Amino acid sequence: MSLTLRTKYLEGFVADHEFDAIAPAVTAAHNTLAAKNGPGNDFLGWVELPTDYDKEEFARIKAAAEKIKDTADVLIVIGIGGSYLGARAAIELLKSPFYNNLKKDTPDIYFVGNNISATYLNEVLSICEGKDVAVNVISKSGTTTEPALAFRVFKKLLEDKYGKDGAKERIFATTDKAKGTLKELSDEMGYETFVVPDDVGGRFSVLTAVGLLPIAVAGCDIDALMKGAQNAQKKYANDDGNDCYKYAAARNILYRKGKSVEMLVSYDPAFTLMGEWYKQLFGESEGKDGKGIFPSAATFSTDLHSLGQFIQDGSNLMFETVVNIKTPKQDFFIEEDAENRDGLNFLSNQNMSVVNQKAFEGTILAHTEGGVPNLVIDVDKIDEENLGELIYFFEKACAISGYMLGVNPFNQPGVESYKKNMFALLGKPGYEDQKAALEAKLV
Ligand code: PA5
Repeated sequence: MSLTLRTKYLEGFVADHEFDAIAPAVTAAHNTLAAKNGPGNDFLGWVELPTDYDKEEFARIKAAAEKIKDTADVLIVIGIGGSYLGARAAIELLKSPFYNNLKKDTPDIYFVGNNISATYLNEVLSICEGKDVAVNVISKSGTTTEPALAFRVFKKLLEDKYGKDGAKERIFATTDKAKGTLKELSDEMGYETFVVPDDVGGRFSVLTAVGLLPIAVAGCDIDALMKGAQNAQKKYANDDGNDCYKYAAARNILYRKGKSVEMLVSYDPAFTLMGEWYKQLFGESEGKDGKGIFPSAATFSTDLHSLGQFIQDGSNLMFETVVNIKTPKQDFFIEEDAENRDGLNFLSNQNMSVVNQKAFEGTILAHTEGGVPNLVIDVDKIDEENLGELIYFFEKACAISGYMLGVNPFNQPGVESYKKNMFALLGKPGYEDQKAALEAKLV
């Protein structure tokens, strides 16, 4: 088994009978999801996606990835939220956080349109100078401000450099199958397009073209990624006490006991962006109606030297979920130092992964003693298949957990508020009335 949940470190916080007591809520959530009759039921395409996906498009994704690899030094991926985090997280985890600096036969990949920083944009533009560039613009709605603004810039860059005909060979759009500005423009300009299915929300879309095209360009095996997700789809299909449902149950038990913050922890910096992906998945799905577990993430041992004090000793509001990668991609043998001036020879003649493992074990004992319950997700090793399984594990756990919480896990009404204010303050036509009122509040 490649992925298993350990609940041993809930001892003293959660008793077995509490799992029994919450089991009917798990069953109810499972039945709602299976019958597709709960809130947000028009966004359940991700449930069967690992087996029920467009095979013709999948082949086109692979072909487009090869074309990009052959013709570009740099791929610019334009998107925000669910239209970017999954791809970036997968590439950092499967390849490296230093992917762009590695010796490789695949293009460098930069993610833009996920912020409104002019500095960031200018820096990526200058990186592109003198290089052959391709663009994958990703937006389900086709109207999100951040990616639309960035796409204007990179469309012009490509058209200035290659002409309109040349640019159209280098622009790949992932968007709605029929509607939206981006789809209209793509059809008009002749860009190759890929589909974000209607029934798959942004944060559940990493296993569609949204994630798969950039991941394939980075040289990852997307067949194996889908295979891992298929394994998970089968493994977590039934209400049989599986690890995915047990994780959802544990989260809700802890939440009802006042643990309102979950910290997703890993001991490998390559997992850091997965933490960002998890934050969006759970934050946008559960944080509504005045409820929800606040998702946070940390990379240890790095953050033990910053947040460690708070976790051990601060407000007693959190639990941790540790993703424990049992076998690292690489190891490092620590040699003995003849002088031993730093006194670290007790660490020598063994692999660094052993030190990291002991840091994990020592920390979990300290944190549980400090009143922080811990869940552990053991993953054998990092590869495409295990990542596919992990992605689906979190997606399904999120849906079950959200239904248990009594929210619609598939909408995100709260994200519109900042946009309305921003548009009004910037003078977007139609927002005139709000502009004056908001400006008065800012004075
Ligand atoms: O999960 C979501 O729905 C959001 O995070 C979206 O993915 C994000 O806002 C980007 O939207 P779009 O793909 O329409 O540009």
